[in-house]
Amino acid sequence: MRVSGAKNAVLPLMAASLLADAPVEIVGAPRLRDIATFGKLLSLMGASVERIDAGEDGREAVRIDPREIRKAEAPYDLVKTMRASVLVLGPLVARYGRARISLPGGCAIGARPIDQHLKGLELLGAKTTLSEGYVGVEAARLSGATVYFDMKTVTGTENLMMAATLAKGTTVLKNAAQEPEVCCLAQALRAMGADIEGDGTDEIVVRGVASLRGGRHDVIADRIEASTLLLAGAITGGDVTAEGADPSAMDAVLQKLSESGAEIAASPGLVRVRREGRVRSVNVETSPYPGFPTDVQAQFMAYMCLGDGFSIVRETIFENRFMHAAELRRMGAKIDISGNTAAVKGVPFLSGAPLMATDLRASASLVLAGLAAKGTTEVLRIYHLDRGYEELESKLSSLGAEIARVKE
Ligand code: EPZ
Repeated sequence: MRVSGAKNAVLPLMAASLLADAPVEIVGAPRLRDIATFGKLLSLMGASVERIDAGEDGREAVRIDPREIRKAEAPYDLVKTMRASVLVLGPLVARYGRARISLPGGCAIGARPIDQHLKGLELLGAKTTLSEGYVGVEAARLSGATVYFDMKTVTGTENLMMAATLAKGTTVLKNAAQEPEVCCLAQALRAMGADIEGDGTDEIVVRGVASLRGGRHDVIADRIEASTLLLAGAITGGDVTAEGADPSAMDAVLQKLSESGAEIAASPGLVRVRREGRVRSVNVETSPYPGFPTDVQAQFMAYMCLGDGFSIVRETIFENRFMHAAELRRMGAKIDISGNTAAVKGVPFLSGAPLMATDLRASASLVLAGLAAKGTTEVLRIYHLDRGYEELESKLSSLGAEIARVKE
């Protein structure tokens, strides 16, 4: 199966276009709801956003022309559906001296505060105010500073890295996130003229420049979608190859898959997973990259429901990311939860049932469980799925799954 471009690489790249003084093209951007929503947000500000044919083997690109931006605001009705909107904050303050965005409320998986984003911008000289649920940020011109993040934050690192590109002087980001999507953004910013080094390590140094040009950037493959597709193969005892996946960005997941008894074959741009015989129960703990990704925790828990013993799943990133457990129990899974730890006792099989999706990755885990269960499973509220997976059901049916989208 061909893996799509990474949603969480495209979103910051779309935000980065606000920094440029010429159009930016993002090649390989998948057709996803969150990407369409981000495009709507940018066009609300005055940018022109369109999908164009990238001219290379039928790939598409999102083209953003930021030259007519006139409103530096992200309204509540958009932000409440997609908290990644916070990524416009750094670029707007750096390029236009101000921004006003609705404070992203919590979401299904947690409170999702942005205190680290605001602390960082204040250290770069911005003034922040909070009124009527909107946060306002102003700065005549940002000036470089050292920012130490209290915890690894992906969009916090991305926001500050983007803001620092046009600040006066040098910015050092300490305890920076090291996700591949952060590196993809840094690479694109360098191609636009930014001076950034250290991306991929926990210390990123940005030297401010006067302006950034446009350009055309390829997005990396979606390592979370790839992990989900490979787990579809593992959970059903099948044989799945993820084309376009970068195995070096998936070490933690591939390691856990092979510990569970799956056979892995990996080379650049290709990862294959096969599984015969019983699933071996293994423990997993989520942590910031390069650790086991929180965005694969739900899918892996579904897989562990069929293990040969006990699997301890610990979620250390978000405070409420076990909602899929209640749904899996309805299929016969044995899962005990206390705090951020779930004990999964493997059972010989799961039984199909009507299920409710609650958030993007939990809905993927319910689909995986349904693929392996006896009988039919219906997953409701799959608009969650459409936020992060491009045509998941057609990808899975081309792998042999019996799956179809039906009217709710
Ligand atoms: C990014 O969210 C991803 N989204 C998430 O993917 C992913 O789950 C998450 O990183 C963790 O890997 C995008 O990249 C668009 P964080 P982000 O800031 O940046 C706390 C998906 O499924 N925190 O790394 O919002 C926070 O509450 C999405 O595609 C603060 O306390 O996550 C969390 O506990 C879901 N204050 C932890 O840090 C802050 O200012 C990590 O959050 C910022 C974060």
